[in-house]
Amino acid sequence: MAEPSGGRRPMRVAVSGAAGQIGYQLLFRIASGQMLGPDQPLVLQLLEVEAALPALQGVVMELDDCAFPLLQGVETSSEARSAFDGVDLALLVGAMPRREGMERRDLLSANAQIFSVQGRALNEVAGSEVRILVVGNPCNTNCLIARSNAPEIPLERWFAMMRLDQNRGQSLLARRAGVAVQEVTNLAVWGNHSATQFPDARQARISGRPLSQVIDDEDWLLGEFVTTVQQRGSAVIKARGLSSAASAANAAIDSVVSIRTPTPAGDWTSLAVVSRGEYGIPEGLQFGFPVRSDGSSWTVVEGLDQDQRAMELIGRSRSELEGEREEIRHLLP
Ligand code: NAD
Ligand code: LMR
Repeated sequence: MAEPSGGRRPMRVAVSGAAGQIGYQLLFRIASGQMLGPDQPLVLQLLEVEAALPALQGVVMELDDCAFPLLQGVETSSEARSAFDGVDLALLVGAMPRREGMERRDLLSANAQIFSVQGRALNEVAGSEVRILVVGNPCNTNCLIARSNAPEIPLERWFAMMRLDQNRGQSLLARRAGVAVQEVTNLAVWGNHSATQFPDARQARISGRPLSQVIDDEDWLLGEFVTTVQQRGSAVIKARGLSSAASAANAAIDSVVSIRTPTPAGDWTSLAVVSRGEYGIPEGLQFGFPVRSDGSSWTVVEGLDQDQRAMELIGRSRSELEGEREEIRHLLP
């Protein structure tokens, strides 16, 4: 019988926090081929804290029981160096989630240390082409910490997740315009994955037309639309009693696909990448920008018109990220 891999080398994919809520939504979709494609075999290298290894064993049993043709192996460990050994892709999910009434930044004291340890481990043992997506919150600054502790891994290989915000915004715009969600393109989410993020719908397009020709309501676009996206994570926590998991796993898959696949002509995707000073954002912050990928490298989309109001909103997120960076400066080598 033909191998689904067509003889390809399996990709090694690390997932931290694999026994958690997001892990449970993510692993099966990765193993089924939704993230890397239907012809790409893979090995999962799962990282958990010691106490969660028995629960993780149950998840591994379920992965076995799915008999996924692409899944060539599953390894588990509570040691970052072992879980990250030779990996091509690392999804850093493992971290404490917030509860009702908290901001994501309140998690820094609990979570920041995890990312300095894991950054060092990736630096030592990851594969030479590794790419890293940070999901654990506050993801932009956690990414900055891990990245700074991994001097051998090029800066452009690090991403923090803004895609859940983009997906939330696209859904809202589609509903408001009465169109299918795939008709909404060019939604940029700027800044921090936090309540200061700026989802800028004014550059978006609906069925290829400028959004303003379909939704002619700048007050809504800069008001309720922005605050709804900013506060959506809190609203989910309030409703579920737990933070988003299935939609977060979905966004992680979308993020990796958008990094590894050429961006459709004229569109962009929202990812937090290292700033090189674009749009006046200080160099080195891990900042949400509109990004285009050619399937292997990416660039920030430059030259978008930003008026004073947009620059104020983006500036708020920039200041917050600068504040977070000050808070964790002791973890930067
Ligand atoms: P969860 O508590 O269900 O699972 C987290 C898992 O991480 C647990 O199993 C825990 O044992 C594990 N863990 C903790 N420290 C670890 C370490 N040092 N190494 C390996 N594993 C470790 O939480 P969840 O709902 O899966 O959320 C995980 C993180 O993702 C949270 O920080 C949450 O806020 C964040 N999140 C981010 C986004 C985003 O858009 N960026 C969206 C949703 C959730
Ligand atoms: C989200 O946006 O749903 C996640 O970041 C979880 C949270 O704390 O809001």
